[in-house]
Amino acid sequence: MRGRLLVVGALNIDLVVAANALPGPGETVVGDDLQRHGGGKGGNSAVAAARAGADVRYIGAVGNDEFGSTSLEELRAEGIDVADVAGKEGCATGAAVIVVDRAGENQIAVAAGANAAVTADDVRKAVERADGWPGCVLVSTEISMLAVITAVEEATARGWRCVLNPAPVVPGILDLLRLAPIITPNRGELKDLSRLLGHTDDSSVEEMAAFVSGHTGSAVVVTLGADGVLVCDTAGITTKIAAGKARQVVDTTGAGDTFNGVFAAALAAGQDIKTAAERGVAAATLSVEAAGARTSMPNVAAIDALIADQGAQRAGRA
Ligand code: RIB
Repeated sequence: MRGRLLVVGALNIDLVVAANALPGPGETVVGDDLQRHGGGKGGNSAVAAARAGADVRYIGAVGNDEFGSTSLEELRAEGIDVADVAGKEGCATGAAVIVVDRAGENQIAVAAGANAAVTADDVRKAVERADGWPGCVLVSTEISMLAVITAVEEATARGWRCVLNPAPVVPGILDLLRLAPIITPNRGELKDLSRLLGHTDDSSVEEMAAFVSGHTGSAVVVTLGADGVLVCDTAGITTKIAAGKARQVVDTTGAGDTFNGVFAAALAAGQDIKTAAERGVAAATLSVEAAGARTSMPNVAAIDALIADQGAQRAGRA
């Protein structure tokens, strides 16, 4: 069954320099030609979900400029419904300045532009149009806090499954946790959330995930980069899902977004959390093999093939 996914988040154009090393404070590094790619955590997740077989509607905003029209064309080309994207006069479309080093690690600075101007009303209108439609809503926090709050509140009020990617962890997020979204922090974000919730010990990822899940009353799925993800269920029981090995690591930008998009797409299609996380991890593994956040995001067949291959390898070792 195809999942129906509503994605609320930021849309950027990524301006990328591939260099030997990331710059330190005050340092200049020189790389190759400037690359331009589609980006933004919302836009990236939407593309990952669409390639993974979901019907996707994207809610966000662009400015009235060339970056805006290019961004929308790229989403439309992936079959994503962009009817709910607000055009913001006087704002620039979001842009990210990114350096990627030889190991595929990155450094990112974002100019939020129109993403910061998404209003509660923009989200409400889109949610009303989607009434009865989605199997899941995926929200990330790179847009205005009002939009984030409205999206999570509206999804919860309608009984829609909601995944909140707290990237970045922003003030005000704690109020949303009481609405029990499934949250998908990375290690650093999990630490920030546990501190905000009053956990001061230097404890393990497992303990912090169980602590945060105890507050939200919902599952916590921690993305661990090349180590895969840790799923913590509502009983505080944790399961690790290992990542396969990428054939080559060229650019890890957007790997977390790929996980979130494919994970939420699988939940929207009715899969359980662990199966959905396994699909997300496989997709994220494949997403790092080419330059640009979206270039090597896989389709359904490629995700299925990697999962089957890993299953065969496990069986061979047993
Ligand atoms: O997560 C990667 C994304 O973060 C990039 O595409 C960039 O636009 C920033 O939003």
